[in-house]
Amino acid sequence: MKKTIALFGLLTFVLIALQQCKPDPPLCCDNGSDPDSLYVGTPDTILRPFKFPPVELPAGMTLTKEGVQLGRMLFYDPVLSSDSTIACGTCHIQQFAFADGGKAVSQNFFGPTKRNTPPIFNMLWSKKFFWDGRVTTITAQAIDALHGEQNFIAPAIVPKLEADSTYTALFKKAFGRPGNITEEKIANALGQFMLTMVSSESKFDSVMRGQAAFTPEESRGFFDLFLKDPTLNTTNPGVGADCFHCHSSTSANYVTMIDDVFHNNALDDGTNFVYADKGLGDVTGNQLDNGVFKTPHIRNVEVTGPYMHDGRFAALQDVVNFYNEGLKNPPNADPNMKFAHQGGLHSLTPQDKADLIAFLKTLTDHKFITNPKFSNPFE
Ligand code: HEC
Ligand code: HEC
Repeated sequence: MKKTIALFGLLTFVLIALQQCKPDPPLCCDNGSDPDSLYVGTPDTILRPFKFPPVELPAGMTLTKEGVQLGRMLFYDPVLSSDSTIACGTCHIQQFAFADGGKAVSQNFFGPTKRNTPPIFNMLWSKKFFWDGRVTTITAQAIDALHGEQNFIAPAIVPKLEADSTYTALFKKAFGRPGNITEEKIANALGQFMLTMVSSESKFDSVMRGQAAFTPEESRGFFDLFLKDPTLNTTNPGVGADCFHCHSSTSANYVTMIDDVFHNNALDDGTNFVYADKGLGDVTGNQLDNGVFKTPHIRNVEVTGPYMHDGRFAALQDVVNFYNEGLKNPPNADPNMKFAHQGGLHSLTPQDKADLIAFLKTLTDHKFITNPKFSNPFE
């Protein structure tokens, strides 16, 4: 009897083992026989980089691989402009971290503008978009860009997408039923793609993770200059470039290197609050916000020039010279532009400036600017 039970047990075990060797049946079937499979996308996720804030998708947005792929195609497809000549990727160029690589101010469908093309990455952690922060969601951003830069006209352009089976298939997968193409879905797909554009693989990041070391120049540039306020420096009184107040993260635990808020960094005189570009003042109507702009990203700053909202500085050297000896003293200078009243820090030696620039160049993310995930899918 015991033997029979043992044998039975063994047999069951072998049977179960054999069962598990069989390949799993496919979970879902994209074989055309089930029409519903056309309306189900593949979930996608974004990994949280080291010392970055948590990954929280904007309300109402989900990521699918098909949505991201669709967004990437739309980003590079000039069909979204009314004369089929301009795509997002015309101005936002990967090798320049999606800035435009050279133009002081951008020229769009309607003609020359007064603003420099900003780079695009780490939008997931932004709450306000554009130099003046006029929109607060990545999809509203895309709609503004579609109309404002490319003269997107839905009734003329949507049928062109509907005539392309790759697009119609991706829209179904990305957004489910009813599977039609709308301006909102176009903006959402562009938003999904842009949210996946994360830049967190610079030398600076490797140093933060303990996987690389700064050169002595880079180290001085970061720890002794960028991060030091000369008015509070007890070890070396008077030494420091005081950049971190605006160009670091709001939390000391994070390394996004942007505070995502607005300042007047004393570029212009602003006498009587008059500025060539009011910036935030255009959005709020408050004269104290005139000449106030969103702090730009300094990650990848080596490749995003020319610099400032109007691209007035061609080189990083010009920017550092400006903070040291070129500040104006506008009535609404940011409280953290502590040296505006004296025209700049006036304390940086040529070596200090070189060290500061050496540090800024450690923020270049070569993986990001060459990552095939973000390149033009039509090439
Ligand atoms: C003709 C050049 C041009 C085209 C085309 C263009 N942009 Fe831009 N983009 C700019 C300029 C210039 C700004 C800054 C405008 C401003 O602040 O008023 C900008 C700003 C942005 C920003 C804000 C970044 C930030 O940090 O706030 C994002 C995101 C962006 N564009 C995405 C897009 C998308 C998506 C498209 C395609 C639908 C697009 N752009 C098309 C030139 C362009
Ligand atoms: C009070 C806040 C503040 C401080 C302090 C500050 N900046 Fe800025 N910075 C800004 C703002 C705002 C802009 C954009 C201004 C504009 O275009 O009108 C800017 C622009 C820049 C740019 C141009 C980026 C681009 O893509 O156009 C660089 C580079 C830069 N700052 C580096 C520095 C350095 C280096 C220091 C320290 C010496 C510093 N900043 C101190 C707020 C600040």
